[in-house]
Amino acid sequence: MSQVKLKGIDKVFGNTQVLDGVEIDIADGEFMVFVGPSGCGKTTLMRTIAGLERPSAGHVLIDEADVTRAHPAHRGVAMVFQSYALYPHMTVFENIAFGLRLSKKSRSDVDAAVRDVASILQIEPLLERKPSALSGGQRQRVAIGRAIVRDPKVFLFDEPLSNLDAALRVQMRVELIKLHQRLKATMIYVTHDQTEAMTMADRIVVLNGGRVEQLGTPLELYGRPVNRFVAGFIGSPKMNFLEVSASRVDDGGVTVTLPGDVELTVPVDGEGVEVGSALTFGVRPEHVGIRDGVDGPADVRLSAQVDLVEHLGSEILVHAKLFDDYQIEIKSTGHDSVTHDDRLEVAIRTRLCHLFGDDGRALSPLADESTPVTA
Ligand SMILES: Nc1ncnc2c1ncn2[C@@H]1O[C@H](COP(=O)(O)OP(=O)(O)OP(=O)(O)O)[C@@H](O)[C@H]1O
Ligand SMILES: [Mg+2]
Repeated sequence: MSQVKLKGIDKVFGNTQVLDGVEIDIADGEFMVFVGPSGCGKTTLMRTIAGLERPSAGHVLIDEADVTRAHPAHRGVAMVFQSYALYPHMTVFENIAFGLRLSKKSRSDVDAAVRDVASILQIEPLLERKPSALSGGQRQRVAIGRAIVRDPKVFLFDEPLSNLDAALRVQMRVELIKLHQRLKATMIYVTHDQTEAMTMADRIVVLNGGRVEQLGTPLELYGRPVNRFVAGFIGSPKMNFLEVSASRVDDGGVTVTLPGDVELTVPVDGEGVEVGSALTFGVRPEHVGIRDGVDGPADVRLSAQVDLVEHLGSEILVHAKLFDDYQIEIKSTGHDSVTHDDRLEVAIRTRLCHLFGDDGRALSPLADESTPVTA
């Protein structure tokens, strides 16, 4: 168990700055998830923690010890990559034991450690097989076993499940959560998968262009994104955005005029906003109701023309146009009857709406408004 501190980490490759002043404190035993668009620096940051990459500036601390210049083998960190290369000519047992043999442990200690790990991961019956005789999920478990057996202080997982099919991902996700609960180890996990990030993380770091955009619990990021980037990145399908302008600013919040001349007052702090200021209005697809009663009372109703309906089983995803022009997505349950070409009345509750300034920053909710994170 260990804390990890990243202090002012910069990384420059040639003349490209890949990491820019990254400051992250990871608590002992925490499950921290890194998310962000492709190329934003997630793998580079993981490699920096592991010691496979040296930062251009800044420090990596593990348990208060500065390991910035320490060899990877001396950091007590184990990394599991997306493409986990198992040794094809070795059995599962030998693959897991390999690192321990290098550490010159006794044969019986190695044997006991491998069997213990195999039992945690439920791969005991596979120990004598070669990797070619395993499924993708089983191979992934062996790769994780290789990390666990070294009893690292910190686990680094870089998209470890992305090669697996959907069902196996869900199964492995649950197994990793259980593993974390059992080992109580510090884990840092990179994923592109929203569900993994939301369900596995104690806290999430959203990276963009090598910078930390926001660090918080899954529900903080979902309910109170600090800027438009985080608002659009966390949540699936992504938040709807409409360009609007402010028509009134007072104690009740900021009133904006949506296309179609509909006015709507969002209970946010209007500091720095003037009448006429350009703002971005945001509302999540699951916070747009299709009618009163089912999705709760509305503050504003808008007419929308349905373009397309996707049936997801328990819910539907409606692609519609507001005021003939503005694309909006609505996620809803219990409206199987909505079809292509319908005209709908959609319901919006202002306390579930967000406003962003022209610099992208979110206007903060008014002090007496506790914005609920779900509808
Ligand atoms: N050794 C290197 N030399 C030069 N540029 C590099 C090197 N390694 C990574 N980069 C660049 O650094 C940036 C960040 O790469 P990184 O692999 O950390 O992104 P990522 O967030 O992990 O992306 P993905 O989600 O696609 O895995 C990219 O623009 C990449 O091209
Ligand atoms: Mg990567």
